[in-house]
Amino acid sequence: MFGKRGGSSDTPDFKPVSAPAPVAPAPESAPASQSTALEAKPELPKVQPPAIAPAVAAQAAPPPSPEASGEKTEEYYDTKTSVFSALIDTIDLSQLSQMDPEAAREEIRDIVSDIISIKNLAMSIAEQEEILQDICNDVLGYGPLEPLLVRDDIADIMINGAKDAFIEVEGKMEKARVRFRDNTQLMNICQRIVSQVGRRVDESSPICDARLADGSRVNVIAPPLAIDGPALTIRKFKKDKLTLDQLVKFGSITPEGADILQIIGKVRCNVIISGGTGSGKTTLLNCMSAYAGEEERIITCEDSAELQLQQPHVVRLETRPPNLEGEGQITMTDLVKNCLRMRPERIIVGEVRGAEVFDLLQAMNTGHDGSMGTIHANTPRECLSRIESMIAMGGFNLPAKTVREIIVGSIDVIIQAARLRDGSRRITHVTEVIGLEGDVITTQDLFVYKIDGEDANGKIIGKHVSTGIGRPAFWDRARYYNEEGRLAAALDAANEENM
Ligand SMILES: Nc1ncnc2c1ncn2[C@@H]1O[C@H](COP(=O)(O)OP(=O)(O)O)[C@@H](O)[C@H]1O
Ligand SMILES: [Mg+2]
Repeated sequence: MFGKRGGSSDTPDFKPVSAPAPVAPAPESAPASQSTALEAKPELPKVQPPAIAPAVAAQAAPPPSPEASGEKTEEYYDTKTSVFSALIDTIDLSQLSQMDPEAAREEIRDIVSDIISIKNLAMSIAEQEEILQDICNDVLGYGPLEPLLVRDDIADIMINGAKDAFIEVEGKMEKARVRFRDNTQLMNICQRIVSQVGRRVDESSPICDARLADGSRVNVIAPPLAIDGPALTIRKFKKDKLTLDQLVKFGSITPEGADILQIIGKVRCNVIISGGTGSGKTTLLNCMSAYAGEEERIITCEDSAELQLQQPHVVRLETRPPNLEGEGQITMTDLVKNCLRMRPERIIVGEVRGAEVFDLLQAMNTGHDGSMGTIHANTPRECLSRIESMIAMGGFNLPAKTVREIIVGSIDVIIQAARLRDGSRRITHVTEVIGLEGDVITTQDLFVYKIDGEDANGKIIGKHVSTGIGRPAFWDRARYYNEEGRLAAALDAANEENM
């Protein structure tokens, strides 16, 4: 019909059905049997119960500000420890864990106030409340992690053993002021997290992926593999995903660039989003998928459901790791293959890491226009060669030229995301895959981000420049979808910006 591929199914003949319900693991009450996890001496700012730890979600209150994380005195910890010991003398913690979280919290609250008055501790209401929160976090939640989990400005939490914790805020890594008593406490918290999804982590199975109830992704690697104590990494789930408009506001892309991305999404170009870890690939994929039509049947395949599509007709699929006996694994390849039997119109693959790339390309090539995926690579060129090597590693014994023909025949656009060294995130390339010249895949950039230098504060100075292409290869597609006027306007505006 147009472009590089043949006919596609543009006129769906079915009625949309409602999207399936989310599949967040149903949390059980947090086990409180490991008493080592409960001895409390963490360094905690005053926090409210987070939504993430199911057991402590009892009370709603305004979120704490990051500034509230002041250092606490040793005296505070001494008091807390003594209150805590009195508490475990008084109640049976394992019984507490059977209770409904709100009731458990009330129970602790009553006993702690009794203890404070019996011990005759001089404390203000605010101080009492603080100790109470801390203790509840330790008993019912994820202890010193709680204050970090409730903060929505944190993108990643990285705990490197009991003594070191880092967070990423606004693209920058910083030290977090949390303290675990020791590696045993940290390990117990890790265990508590992964047990929520029916997994376990210990010396015999020291690597574990899990997910918090709010969708945050968790990885734990324990000693002896992690030499200095358990390493816990959490990619926080952002409830409010960034939109393309916000990316424009942040300067990640120009308004014209955003228009062009929107058109690319709408006219069903096949897109690969390329970028390093934390460069904003998933965010961008989410933005791009927002421009798919309401009437399209979209199937998403992810390792851990992150995408938040707003369309009415979406099927969400998720891979499954092997169980404790090493069985039952469902890989991305399994999902993508199955997808093709589900009459998809677009397939969206969260993260393409291996042989599934071949199935995705086949899908792109066979009438599922508008399919998308992300790949870990630092430039569009590198992305192309990564795809080739993923196919080679998948054991498909194909001549290099054939592989390249498949790539050229299926991918229309590569969008490159990057996190620059000053922490800012930019879309650095919007590149079209054009064709083959001899053995080489030819591409053309529509947009690139040019770095000019650095200001006195280490902020990178640069700007997006259009390469002056007036007629991208997806022009005919744009015309077919009646978007060529808008495309021409956006390209013109981008070219003028350069002047
Ligand atoms: N353009 C951007 N500007 C600011 N923050 C961003 C931008 N893109 C993504 N982020 C934030 O960066 C973090 C990582 O983004 P994500 O899309 O998950 O990265 P990736 O999928 O590449 O690992 C998220 O917290 C996200 O909100
Ligand atoms: Mg991602």
